[in-house]
Amino acid sequence: MCGIVAYAGPRPAAEVLIDGLKRLEYRGYDSAGIAVVVEGGPVSCVKSAGKVNALERLLRENTPELMEAAGCGIAHTRWATHGEPSDVNAHPHSDEKGKFYIVHNGIIDNYQTLRKRLAEQGCVFRSSTDSEVIAHLIARFYQGDLPRAVAAAVRQLSGTYGIAVVSPLHPGMIVAARKGSPLVIGLGEKENIAASDLAAILPSTRNVMYLNDGDLAVMTADSVEVRNFENMPIERETTRVEWSADAAEKGNYPHFMLKEIFEQPETVENAIRGRIDHEMKSALLSGLNLTPRELAEIGRIVIAGCGSSMHAGLVGEYFFEDLAGIPTEVEQAAEFRYRNPIIEPRTLVIPISQSGETADTIAAVREATAKGALVAALCNVVGSTVAREAGRGVYLHAGPEISVASTKAFTSQVTVLLLLALLFGRNRRMDRTDGARLIAEIEALPDMIRKVLEQVPEIERIAKRYAHCNDFFFIGRGPLYPAALEGALKLKEISYIHAEGYHAAELKHGPIALLDPAHPVVALANNIPGRDKMLGNIQECRARKAPVIALVTEGDAEAEALAGDVIRIPECSRYAAALPTVAALQLLAYYIAAERGCEIDQPRNLAKSVTVE
Ligand code: G6P
Repeated sequence: MCGIVAYAGPRPAAEVLIDGLKRLEYRGYDSAGIAVVVEGGPVSCVKSAGKVNALERLLRENTPELMEAAGCGIAHTRWATHGEPSDVNAHPHSDEKGKFYIVHNGIIDNYQTLRKRLAEQGCVFRSSTDSEVIAHLIARFYQGDLPRAVAAAVRQLSGTYGIAVVSPLHPGMIVAARKGSPLVIGLGEKENIAASDLAAILPSTRNVMYLNDGDLAVMTADSVEVRNFENMPIERETTRVEWSADAAEKGNYPHFMLKEIFEQPETVENAIRGRIDHEMKSALLSGLNLTPRELAEIGRIVIAGCGSSMHAGLVGEYFFEDLAGIPTEVEQAAEFRYRNPIIEPRTLVIPISQSGETADTIAAVREATAKGALVAALCNVVGSTVAREAGRGVYLHAGPEISVASTKAFTSQVTVLLLLALLFGRNRRMDRTDGARLIAEIEALPDMIRKVLEQVPEIERIAKRYAHCNDFFFIGRGPLYPAALEGALKLKEISYIHAEGYHAAELKHGPIALLDPAHPVVALANNIPGRDKMLGNIQECRARKAPVIALVTEGDAEAEALAGDVIRIPECSRYAAALPTVAALQLLAYYIAAERGCEIDQPRNLAKSVTVE
């Protein structure tokens, strides 16, 4: 939610910042702005409602000289919380005299109190944002030392923030601070870049430093110093990132989403690589850092996540209970945090998060840790807050996921959950033969997804036929029930079609009242336990004249005969079924959205990383 980038170095700052904003745009895209400080000159601040392209156009047409000027600067792409998307509410914000410019990601909870106090002291506010108070506070605390003024200002704030500050009084210096919103610093050759995430940094360097909550960084072209909010120096280690900048580019695909769907055979392979113990017929997940005895002592698992990550968790619940016999429940991460969860000494909490920066999931990790749970995270972004605070877990290795709608992260999460279930199962009641069988299925996953991807022409044809419909149901049973939820989520996220995922058995408890020829039903009827009942549900839908798109196992003529349209899924067990099935549903959603001319990678009102509650 909101992307920040800040640059200090010899290159034209505006160019670097605009490039960075484009790479961060998936975090928010309703308005954008930059402020550049050129040595000896005033601060140039340009802001615009709309996407980064609109800002870039404005800069190139109105201030071409700024695009070439050397200097340092800050930039922001916004996902509005306080105040509508507009030029005035776009960041950067400054004090009245234009001495301090800030960009902010997060929410200042006490902004109304601060704003009232500052207004009484004579401050004039221009925007409706919560963020503007930060600039005014810095101005009030400033006594010649910018880092000290920023530290004093952030000590007044409650809420979450990642901020970057520039001032014409300190050309060449950027001060950044974080609490609850991510900030990473890229350490380049005679240049440094701070940003909300790696995407904006990787074109310049792979050497990075992650800031922790309570860190304040003072950055110039040649140096980065980290302090706490009391101004005491802190050491933060430098790490080298494996992802390359190319991985975050679209290549020849029209959208990141399609690229990421097609990457799945490879990303699932990456999630598996090096993690199978053929000797023991088990999984090797060293990041868990648990001894066999500790594993055997786990009495209950609680999975917490949001959106697609929660859906992956719901698939995992079947794995853990079925394969390992461990009672498992899945909680929406916000619910976990606020319902005062019961954590016993033998409870393992598994937060799942692609970004590792989702506010509610971070809060769930903290709640679980405070209650003494063992916490092991499934994250994609290395070094993210969830990953670091959990301290143990399994990385997905899916590479950067840029499209707002999650695809490859979901399939990697389910794959890793299956590996975990293999490990837990072998640690308990699963014998070597069953272990070997499950390993064979896990190793076959990339090919299964590949086979689904070969059906693009058929899926595209079905998508075109149904793209005009305004309501869809997705129904499934067993592990395909969460797959139905995920299919419905994909469709509504990117095509704005009303879509609901239901357990097929629930159809008769209400939703069936809505069925008519205008309500297509996507029925997940793979040949796994529950298939016969699903065929009955399909009949019930057809009897109400609802069109049925059925996902069936290759060669299942009986199921095919019942459905109007068919997508064929390779034969597999119930453990593997969710992966190829969801890949097909991702394609269906993608081509329906494409047919409707939607902005697939950046759907309205959404953001990739939900860093506010
Ligand atoms: C947002 C994204 C979803 C994602 C969810 C959880 O809603 O649009 O695609 O599933 O956040 O994100 P996380 O990074 O925690 O997996």
